[in-house]
Amino acid sequence: MKVNGKIIAVTGGGDGIGRQVVLELLRRGARVVAVDIRQDALDATVDLAGAGDRLTTAVVDVTDRDAVAALPGRIEDDHGAVDGVINVAGIIQPFVRLADLDWEAIQRVVDVNLWGTLHVVKAFLPHLQKRPAAHVVTVSSMGGFLPVPGQAVYGATKAAVRLMTEALYAETMGTPVEVSVVFPGAVSTDITSNSGVDVPGGATGGSSRMPTTSPEDAASTILDGMEEGDLHIYVGKDAKLMGVANRVAPRRSIHLIQRQMRKLLG
Ligand SMILES: NC(=O)c1ccc[n+]([C@@H]2O[C@H](COP(=O)([O-])OP(=O)(O)OC[C@H]3O[C@@H](n4cnc5c(N)ncnc54)[C@H](O)[C@@H]3O)[C@@H](O)[C@H]2O)c1
Repeated sequence: MKVNGKIIAVTGGGDGIGRQVVLELLRRGARVVAVDIRQDALDATVDLAGAGDRLTTAVVDVTDRDAVAALPGRIEDDHGAVDGVINVAGIIQPFVRLADLDWEAIQRVVDVNLWGTLHVVKAFLPHLQKRPAAHVVTVSSMGGFLPVPGQAVYGATKAAVRLMTEALYAETMGTPVEVSVVFPGAVSTDITSNSGVDVPGGATGGSSRMPTTSPEDAASTILDGMEEGDLHIYVGKDAKLMGVANRVAPRRSIHLIQRQMRKLLG
């Protein structure tokens, strides 16, 4: 779906990839509703955007089903309609082996990444289905098809939203609702600290020698893919390469990532 003139909600719009998606949507002529759990982060996005009434914000925790359910109606009241939703909000888990991951941390990452995405998709779908053209985009992860040691449950949630999104694609075929799922590799954001996670060396930047994609480039790739109507959108050379490697040689690709990432586990 071309985004010019459309009204699009972006979860996680207060920081990182989501913030850059908001800014890029505005550049491409959309009206945008940035959604985030953090008011201060949304305020910073608004300051950067300087987009007047083409950008509004909503402080919503995506794990709060009732608050999310009320969101599309609020957007219709403010903007007249809603044409798309981009699920970017997400967190990582503490970098520990599954055996050492406590139930509270497991619950939190499942709540935000899986339940949060489900809440948003279920809330917006009936509204999107009334539109002449509409689009649902969900950000999964390279970690959703390739296991990262120390991110077992994170990866499981990202694999789950991938399958959910692909099923939605199959279910909406022949309707005006388009569907895309995004697989970013490493993107240089503050997801580690935003998730309250402590990582030796930093997961996506800091002293890590892993090449990363900038959030700006990630946002452009996501919106190019959305506007092209791609089902699968790979962000970064790492995600593209490992996507192929994982299909051609699944076990070897797991070994490769394990060797690269094992120091994260100490
Ligand atoms: N950074 C990476 O390397 C990377 C790689 C693959 C996938 N991803 C995925 O991309 C997405 C964005 O990640 P990012 O790196 O930009 O992270 P980020 O921490 O910079 O941004 C995530 C935003 O989501 C918000 N958020 C968190 N929990 C929320 C909740 N319950 N309700 C509403 N908002 C909430 C945060 O406040 C934050 O502003 C995530 O889904 C992440 O899993 C990131």
